[in-house]
Amino acid sequence: MRFKTVFIAAILFGIFLSENAQAKKGSSKAISPDLFGIFFEDINYAADGGLYAELVQNRSFEYSLSDHNGWNLFTGWEYITKGYGYGTISVETGSPVNPTNPHYAVLKIEDVGQEGTGLKNSGFDGIPVKVGEKYDFSVFLRPVSDNSFPVQVKLVGKKGVVLGETSFSTDSKGWKKYSATLTVTQTDDSAGLIVLAKAKGTLAIDMVSLFPQNTFKNRPNGLRADLAQTIADLKPKFMRFPGGCLVHGDGLGNMYRWENTIGPVEQRVAQRNIWGYHQTAGLGYFEYFQFCEDIGAKPLPVVPAAVSCQNSGGTWRIGGTGQKGIQLSEMNDYIQEILDLIEYANGPVTSTFGAKRAEAGHPKPFNLEYIGIGNEDKQTPEFRERFKLIYDVLKAKHPEITIIGTVGPSPKGEDFDLGWNFATKLTVPMVDEHYYESPEWFIANQKRYDSYDRTKSKVYLGEYASRGNTLFNALAEAAFMTSLERNGDVVHLASYAPMLAKEGHTQWNPDMIYFNNTTVYRTPNYFVQQLFSVNQGDRYFSDIISTENRQDSTLAFSCVRDNKSGDVIIKLVNYSKTEKNLKIDLSAFKGIGTKATLTQLTGDANAKNSFESPSNVSPSNSELNAPKRFSYSTQPMSLTIIKIKGNK
Ligand code: AHR
Repeated sequence: MRFKTVFIAAILFGIFLSENAQAKKGSSKAISPDLFGIFFEDINYAADGGLYAELVQNRSFEYSLSDHNGWNLFTGWEYITKGYGYGTISVETGSPVNPTNPHYAVLKIEDVGQEGTGLKNSGFDGIPVKVGEKYDFSVFLRPVSDNSFPVQVKLVGKKGVVLGETSFSTDSKGWKKYSATLTVTQTDDSAGLIVLAKAKGTLAIDMVSLFPQNTFKNRPNGLRADLAQTIADLKPKFMRFPGGCLVHGDGLGNMYRWENTIGPVEQRVAQRNIWGYHQTAGLGYFEYFQFCEDIGAKPLPVVPAAVSCQNSGGTWRIGGTGQKGIQLSEMNDYIQEILDLIEYANGPVTSTFGAKRAEAGHPKPFNLEYIGIGNEDKQTPEFRERFKLIYDVLKAKHPEITIIGTVGPSPKGEDFDLGWNFATKLTVPMVDEHYYESPEWFIANQKRYDSYDRTKSKVYLGEYASRGNTLFNALAEAAFMTSLERNGDVVHLASYAPMLAKEGHTQWNPDMIYFNNTTVYRTPNYFVQQLFSVNQGDRYFSDIISTENRQDSTLAFSCVRDNKSGDVIIKLVNYSKTEKNLKIDLSAFKGIGTKATLTQLTGDANAKNSFESPSNVSPSNSELNAPKRFSYSTQPMSLTIIKIKGNK
């Protein structure tokens, strides 16, 4: 017994000594293990026409003028009467597949012609297909006349070559889903999908869909593989979704309501996207949760705080409505909707919403730990009243979930101050700060969090970017990110924004990843995010790195340790035009060798990547000998990561 006590005391003393040894050379502190994650918003065609792998645009004839100037129910479609067919086409709502998806096309064929009569879809700027790959086609059909319809489906290349085809006949009087797989015989970046009916009569058509089988992790109704992989390569600790302004919406009717986005896709509620296009909700809450799990990121959904965007109808529409709140008499139902979301994510399969998750193919919970309420909302009495109603119930019913409040769109100002005071009063665990500023601002504000009150709410830096995609922009962000690590005890989460942007459909610049239908390129900002993300630690150490000139303001650095692997990770940012020498003293660390990997991101300050030169700025790797004490000379305009392998 006595031996045991002495033994335990010796171990505790050993731990104390080793912590103290670490503290001797520089103190250390625990920092958030979830610090670097990602922000996904359906802006810049990030979802439909982007990450969501559906290749047919306006698949359910729901587009409208209110989505985008000049759009209508037939946008994306062409009426085909090849071979002298004759008839009419219309869009109707009388007897839809589902009332939540009200419109469908009706083909009235009077003369079939030699090739049939039907519709052609040109996708989102063309349908890209690859030779040898398989594509899943599906359509809902309902004969209105009393006859069956032979149907032919063709993928046609931009020069008119047939790249794949299939035929079948309708065999039901009511709506029925018909599916087929097409194998493509030739690569084409701009194919079209043709659906032809080959009998006289009237045929209703809806939910015309074409998906590559090769989606990310081969998930049905899945995500575009190359884009999803680019995101997965960031190895984010969390993913925020579905926005941004998209969450609180352009007017009350445009809020993102999570329940509208689950279940069979033909039952989901499509709606106008606040960024001037359309969202099918094909990429909905199930797919978001599934993607988070697939890439090892904790899900961080943001729900509206029961108020619409204060810019509603203003920035986007004439005669703005401004911020509007859900009627107080409807708040109980609205709060229940958020509780249902938590149940959908975490509830047992025996619960109502846990059962819906299981039905979608995921009986296990998604382990929701964080939830955001509101996005950049104006701090009005209406907002506060509704936020508090939601907050009080969530806090009481789900103390295990970290609730994140909102403090406006800027790093300071009225909403920021009011938001912080309100959050402090309510003791909200975390608040969501946003800022888009110049690179110089990021460099000048590296001390921002050094003086934050550690007893108040923690910070989620939910959106930030330095207004540009040059290497200098990325390095300014990198310098700032070393300060986030230094303050990782108060800043618990951070995500660059926005993440995705499609060529020709970009409403917001800069972004982290640019893509078109066939290519993806990563910006220097992407590589900075990636290098910080894959090199995170859970303990921060000060005084490990020193400069020749203590006042040098063109250098930023940090040192963290990952307790799991034992790796010690040094990050050095030199945003000057000259080489800079630094001293690194690792003598405080036990359990490391002298082998280190060296990763560098460097180049001309104005260097960028592009579709033509995707790797103009990209990291290079080599090895380095890292004795207990050594000097290291950083390249001008560089981010250097030195990872010293732990012995664990
Ligand atoms: O990231 C783009 C937009 O910027 C977000 O939707 C909004 O939250 C912020 O103003």
